[in-house]
Amino acid sequence: MIGRDILGIEDLSREDIDTILETAERMQEIGNREVKKVPTLRGRTVINLFFEPSTRTQTSFEIAGKRLAADVVNFSVSGSSVSKRETLLDTAKTLDAMDPDAVVVRHKVAGVPHRLAKVLKAPVINAGDGAHEHPSQALLDMLTVREQKGRIEGLTITIIGDIAHSRVARSNIYGFKKLGAEVRVAGPPTMLPADVEKSLGVKAYTNLAEAIEGADVVMALRIQMERLEGACFPSVREYAATFGLDRAKLRYAKEDAIVMHPGPVNRGVELSHDLADDRPSVILDQVRNGVALRMALLYLVAGRGGH
Ligand code: CP
Repeated sequence: MIGRDILGIEDLSREDIDTILETAERMQEIGNREVKKVPTLRGRTVINLFFEPSTRTQTSFEIAGKRLAADVVNFSVSGSSVSKRETLLDTAKTLDAMDPDAVVVRHKVAGVPHRLAKVLKAPVINAGDGAHEHPSQALLDMLTVREQKGRIEGLTITIIGDIAHSRVARSNIYGFKKLGAEVRVAGPPTMLPADVEKSLGVKAYTNLAEAIEGADVVMALRIQMERLEGACFPSVREYAATFGLDRAKLRYAKEDAIVMHPGPVNRGVELSHDLADDRPSVILDQVRNGVALRMALLYLVAGRGGH
């Protein structure tokens, strides 16, 4: 995978995903050492190019690069020539001329990482593009399920929330289906794409109890309240009552089901406070695995023999 762009889970084969997850499983051990650093990417440069806010993704790509001894540059949009109206392409080409070994891109517009991948020498890793894909999030979710359940094949995974506008949902649906899981989605009809069962090959539900009946994994998505209230559901309160996950609703899932959320969590909306903090929620395991997974991606695309 040296020099390869990682733009979406849709483009990855099952073998690619297995390679990434197995590499991440080897990287996990480095995070447990007293000195959490190896020289694998010494002399390599990674640029984080985030045009949208991020806590988990940007920080974990930075820590991942540093644990592999790469030089990591966090490009700050607000203090850059973007504020002097330099175009996205000119900005990216300027940074590419400094010979980075990987560029990690987040942008609110779907397709931006793909456009940049066409013109940059460095491999591009998509850190989230609009409502399209968020591949590193889905990969860390797969890593977490493998860690918690020992397998993915044959599991039932229910994803709850705004399926229509969620890049996390789309990438996870592609990934978990490729690895042999049954994926169900649930939400108000306004949050389910009209043709979701046909286009994404999942079963869609508007009744939460039916959606999580017998599930091994229940994943709640963030409701983008700043944009959606009044557009997709009448009120946050009604959404929380109908689709917010709490221990009472979770009893429909398997007894050993785990609860996941990509973060940031709207407490009391997608998840009750206690589920956000305690088992069976594995939210902080997802965050921890995000570092190992991103180490694997940087190692695989920017490692020895790179461009
Ligand atoms: N899950 C996720 O993408 O979180 P951030 O927006 O904090 O990176």
